[in-house]
Amino acid sequence: MSLSGCEIIELPKITDPRGNLTFVESQRHVPFDIKRVYYTYDVPGGTQRGGHAHKELKQLIIAVSGSFDITLDDGFQKKKFNLNRSYFGLYICSMIWREIENFSSGSVCLVLASEFYSEDDYFREYEGFLNVVRK
Ligand code: TYD
Repeated sequence: MSLSGCEIIELPKITDPRGNLTFVESQRHVPFDIKRVYYTYDVPGGTQRGGHAHKELKQLIIAVSGSFDITLDDGFQKKKFNLNRSYFGLYICSMIWREIENFSSGSVCLVLASEFYSEDDYFREYEGFLNVVRK
């Protein structure tokens, strides 16, 4: 797994004078079955979230409101993405370290995930992650 397996996905957008609508379907707009949805909100300015990688989990991260930056790291190279539109998602494959920061006030970070929550799926120590991906 490497950064080449991660990409920005443009989601359908139904524009409407009453307000726009975006939807996401398993295996159509994301290359996995969505088993879990979670979101972070009320994130204080200056906070950094993430700081981990996942062994199996695949995710699509969407700034449904506001904006934030995500830095992806496959152990060899890093790439920074700014998410600021409700109809773009960042697909993150497994074994990618991520840091999320520069949350705008009122931003909501929505995550669609391929697996149920499991602490065993996390690498929370960067050195341990590096040891595995650089082996
Ligand atoms: P974590 O994944 O570290 O958050 P982030 O990557 O956004 O900084 O999770 C924070 C805490 O929430 C941690 O104690 C695990 C718990 N948690 C759940 O119980 N269920 C979940 O689905 C998620 C994502 C986290």
